[in-house]
Amino acid sequence: MNGRSQDDALLVLTGISKRFGSTQALEAVDFSAHAGRIHALVGENGAGKSTLVKTIGGINLPDAGTISLAGRLQQFSGPADASRAGIHLVHQELALLPNNTVAENVFLGHELAGAAGLSWSAMNRRAAETFRHLGLEIDVTRPTGELSTAQQQMVEIARATIRDFRVIILDEPTAALPPADTERLFAVLRDLAARGTAVIYISHRLDEIRALADDITVLKDGRHVATRPAAELDTASMIRLMVGRAIDDLFPPRGPRSQAAPILQVDGLIDPPRVYDVSFEIRAGEILGIYGLEGHGQDEVLSAIAGARRPVGGQLRLDGKPLAWAPVPTMIGHGIGFIPEDRKAEGLVLDLDGHANVSLPILRRLARHGWVNPRREREITTRAAGEAGVRGALDVPVRRLSGGNQQKVLLARWLAAGTRLFLMNQPTRGVDVGSKAEIYSLVRRQCVEHGKAALVVAREITELQGFCDRILVMSRGRMVAECSPLDSEEAILAAALGQEVQTS
Ligand SMILES: Nc1ncnc2c1ncn2[C@@H]1O[C@H](COP(=O)(O)OP(=O)(O)OP(=O)(O)O)[C@@H](O)[C@H]1O
Ligand SMILES: [Mg+2]
Repeated sequence: MNGRSQDDALLVLTGISKRFGSTQALEAVDFSAHAGRIHALVGENGAGKSTLVKTIGGINLPDAGTISLAGRLQQFSGPADASRAGIHLVHQELALLPNNTVAENVFLGHELAGAAGLSWSAMNRRAAETFRHLGLEIDVTRPTGELSTAQQQMVEIARATIRDFRVIILDEPTAALPPADTERLFAVLRDLAARGTAVIYISHRLDEIRALADDITVLKDGRHVATRPAAELDTASMIRLMVGRAIDDLFPPRGPRSQAAPILQVDGLIDPPRVYDVSFEIRAGEILGIYGLEGHGQDEVLSAIAGARRPVGGQLRLDGKPLAWAPVPTMIGHGIGFIPEDRKAEGLVLDLDGHANVSLPILRRLARHGWVNPRREREITTRAAGEAGVRGALDVPVRRLSGGNQQKVLLARWLAAGTRLFLMNQPTRGVDVGSKAEIYSLVRRQCVEHGKAALVVAREITELQGFCDRILVMSRGRMVAECSPLDSEEAILAAALGQEVQTS
């Protein structure tokens, strides 16, 4: 490996195996990380990436294998133990205390002790400094639950930088981050590596891996497939190793523009301070994107139509008929299905199994005389999960599914329910490249062949360009432009930015 061997590695794992019930999550995996280098871990959803780093972070006890740090064998009895040894894991799923302040969360478990116990003023000061270093203005005395998902992610990252950890692991830290924060994060990680930290980085964004990693390890089905210097592994080869085949076209062909009648018309939607007078329509067969910079109202437009937040004013029409705003369950009854950005808080019931999560909105329809035939329920949910590409057991609490598979369970729910209008916020967040291609073509088929429609909010312009028929651009709560997916990325970004410059 480029002259670097396990001998000079800081962290060395050998023969790590881990089984959960019937799932062999890891099978005899060897892995090593070097001080001063950024080592990326890639693989499909369920490949075992999170399981591997949780083993390093002391959260999972491996069934077999050894871990050594700086030449010494380690046996972590828990995360605190791993933390003492100098290892810090930033989880894939946020693990912050929502009612505690930002500063409290940053220092959780590492509180600074002053003469009279904990020195909150010192911690507040240090936390504020840390965020300044990260290039962020965050009031560290606010309850963490009030922050946006992206800001909460930065709190997790700040936690990793307050002490001199020897190994820092980030499990999909950018899935919820806007591009500017991603850039800042990369600068911080490069800086940490330059100071001798071993950084382990998991992401499905392969362009990020290209920009950031020194070394790349590919896992597939719980096994180690390859470890190479990043310079020797191009993206196409990386995908082939991950997926087992080449993916030539991430996005399905678009076909002719839909001439069908509108499914949904939105007229003068108002929800201050985020949404002012938004009007548009979406036709059967159409995939419509909405792009905006972080916090410019696109999320609220989607949530309002889904019934998740009540707008102050505006009119909706479904199939040409007025549709009074109603909460989520009623909107589901109208054939509107919502895939929220935060699938955990708003979408899934984590302690229920996959079957129950898929059948949730159709239970009443399935019930005869108040009784649901479990065989029938399973038939429907298994078929929908198969169509959505869920790989992972459906009979365990969805909490235990890998991140990408949780996303697919939500999609399966709306397939099972016969939803006509898919409202999708970051539909491929945390989804591997092969599954992305499957989701895009699945939604496209649903629209073209069954007259359904999708309204999509995404952070990446290129995703909207590849997936959508038209792209509406929002800025400061208003629709400011309609773009073609063939317009350049720069033009679409300029539309989102331009209005901002004019109005300020
Ligand atoms: N606590 C658990 N109980 C049961 N199965 C589990 C548990 N944790 C992980 N698994 C299973 O182990 C396999 C590996 O999961 P893991 O979370 O490591 O995947 P991953 O590579 O991180 O995927 P993703 O990219 O979707 O996050 C999956 O099939 C997952 O469902
Ligand atoms: Mg994972």
